[in-house]
Amino acid sequence: ATPSPPPDLSSCSKAKINETTEVPYSCCAPTPKDMKKVPYYKFPSMTKLRIRPPAHALDEAYIAKYNLAISRMKDLDKTQPTNPIGFKQQANIHCAYCNGAYAIDGKVLQVHNSWLFFPFHRWYLYFYERILGSLINDPTFALPYWNWDHPKGMRFPPMFDIPGTALYDERRGEQIHNGTIIDLGSFGDQVQTTQLQLMTNNLTLMYRQLVTNAPCPLMFFGGPYTLGSDVESPGTVEVIPHSPVHIWAGTRRGSILPDGKTSNGEDMGHFYSAGLDPVFYCHHSNVDRMWKEWKAIGGKRTDIQNKDWLNSEFFFYDESGNPFKVKVRDCLDTKKMGYDYEPMPTPWRNFKP
Ligand code: C2O
Repeated sequence: ATPSPPPDLSSCSKAKINETTEVPYSCCAPTPKDMKKVPYYKFPSMTKLRIRPPAHALDEAYIAKYNLAISRMKDLDKTQPTNPIGFKQQANIHCAYCNGAYAIDGKVLQVHNSWLFFPFHRWYLYFYERILGSLINDPTFALPYWNWDHPKGMRFPPMFDIPGTALYDERRGEQIHNGTIIDLGSFGDQVQTTQLQLMTNNLTLMYRQLVTNAPCPLMFFGGPYTLGSDVESPGTVEVIPHSPVHIWAGTRRGSILPDGKTSNGEDMGHFYSAGLDPVFYCHHSNVDRMWKEWKAIGGKRTDIQNKDWLNSEFFFYDESGNPFKVKVRDCLDTKKMGYDYEPMPTPWRNFKP
C-alpha cells in the first residue's frame, strides 16, 4: 500500500453535502503557484508551551482574548476573503477534506472513518491555534478544550452561547441552551432521564470507548486508509462520543435554518459546515486530548507503527499564509509541536461497567 498523499489543490472540485446536493460555495483552498514546490513543515522555535485549558474554567480575560482572536479571523473574511487564515477559509479546510472536493487517483479523499482521523484533526488545530495566537500577538495562546468527559464539562460551554459575540453561531440546536447535559452516546434521540443518570452514563461510555473497546491502536485510531482505499472503519472515540457531540451541537436535520433553508445538521452536524461553528475547534481540542489520555492508560495503547500511517500527508497553510505539507509521523508528540493540555481528572477511568 501507499501512504495517503497530500491532496493536489490544483485539482480541487465542488464539495457535496450528499449524493445529489453540492455545497453552495467552493471549499477549495487558495492554490499555491507550484504545488510541487510546497515544502515540508518545520516546527518553529519556541520558548513556552501553549497549555490548552478546559473551556468551562476560563476566566473573563481568557474569554475576551479568545473572542478577539476569532473576531479578527472573521474580519479577514470581509477584508481579504482569499486569505487562507480567514475564518471561512479555515472552515473550508474541513469541508474540502471531508466532502469530496479532493480526489486522488479517482478516489475521493476522506479524513474520517479511518486512522487519518486523529492526525488530520491534530494538524488542523495546530495551525488554527497558531493563527489565532498570531492575530492577537500572543504566541502562547492555546485553544480551550470542551471537557465533555468530565461532569463539569458535559454541557455546552456557556461562553459560546452569548449572542453578538464572535464565539456565537446561529446554526445550533435548541438543546444546547440552559446548561442541558449532553448525552454522549446519542445520535439524535433524547432519552428522558435525570441529569445525574446522564452524567453517570457518559462516564461509563467513556470507559467503554477508551478502555474496554480500545485495547490496541487500530481499535482506537480506526482502520487503515491508504492511497486508493475506501474502507470505512472508524476508531472507537470517533464514533462515540465525537459524532454525538457534533449532532447534538448542530441544528436538527429537517428543521428550518435562520436563512429559510432546510437543515442538514448545520453547522456542527455536517462535515461541510462544522468548521463554521467556533465550538468545533474546542470540541476537537478535547478529541485530541483523548489521544493523550488513551495512551496514558497503558498496555498496548501506543501510536501506530505502520509506515503507511506514519508517512501519510496533509496540506495546510501556516499563520503567515504560507503553504506546507505535513506528515502524520511529526504530530505524535504534542510537546514537540509546542502544546500540551492542562490536566483535568478523568473520573471515567473508575467507571468500569
Ligand atoms: Cu472532522 Cu469532528 O470532524
